[in-house]
Amino acid sequence: MPNRLLRRALPAALLAAVLAALLRSQTSAAPATPSAQTKPDGTARQTAHPWTGSPYGPGNDFESVDRARLLRIKQVMDDMGIKPGSSVADIGAGGGWFTLLAARRVGPQGRVYAEEILPKYTRFIQKRAQREGLKNVRTILGSTTNPRLPLNTLDAVMILNAYHEFEQPLAMLRHVSASMKHGARLAFIERDDDELRREALDAIAKTGRPKHRVDEKPDGNEFTDDHRLALPIVEREAAAVGFVKLKSYRLGEDNYTLIVEKK
Ligand SMILES: C[S@@+](CC[C@H](N)C(=O)[O-])C[C@H]1O[C@@H](n2cnc3c(N)ncnc32)[C@H](O)[C@@H]1O
Repeated sequence: MPNRLLRRALPAALLAAVLAALLRSQTSAAPATPSAQTKPDGTARQTAHPWTGSPYGPGNDFESVDRARLLRIKQVMDDMGIKPGSSVADIGAGGGWFTLLAARRVGPQGRVYAEEILPKYTRFIQKRAQREGLKNVRTILGSTTNPRLPLNTLDAVMILNAYHEFEQPLAMLRHVSASMKHGARLAFIERDDDELRREALDAIAKTGRPKHRVDEKPDGNEFTDDHRLALPIVEREAAAVGFVKLKSYRLGEDNYTLIVEKK
């Protein structure tokens, strides 16, 4: 082939080869990924990206002065059976707002394990507890599937505004259950998606498309938007791991709590 012809033909041949390789990789990848929404622990729903914000200072809703009232936290702690001497875990503890409340209630004979997947939060909680003179707080760095809590130890567990972020919720719940004594209680506090569900269904009816980023669930009726999770989903997953429902009730704004027991 003369040089000029070769120079013209080569880029076209290269492009064709790259395109063919791309096509091959896409078709062969498809069967290896059965469902983007099925997680290794068997959960078939989308989860939110973990919060990575600053635990410090202004603008942090988790420290707002109104939060205890909004979340009726005293009543929730009563319903969890937290009392002086209890062993409690705060899973996905963030800046430690609940950890500190629980530590004051359980007193020097009790213990609170503040668990997180990000070291910046465990370090923050450690310093915060020291500053407050709370010697009964232990921080634990867990993984996204295992909170690494001591086995058969806990009287009560709180998962506050964090369950929707658990990448593999069922795997986490199995470990949480193993760390609890029989009769111990687990509380979830989440925001539900009733309003989003209504808005999304309205938008679908009008435009054929949801307004929010909405993740359809296998039954076609359940979805969660980032950082919101409908109560029936949490109830179903807790039951799947063997927890028995004690009660659920609405808190301020669009928050709710679900309290379950390990039998
Ligand atoms: C929205 S923040 C809430 C913090 C705190 N519970 C509160 O309400 O003040 C959620 C926290 O869950 C943590 N998280 C996400 N996935 C987790 C997992 N698999 N195990 C433990 N913590 C997790 C995140 O790092 C984040 O700090």
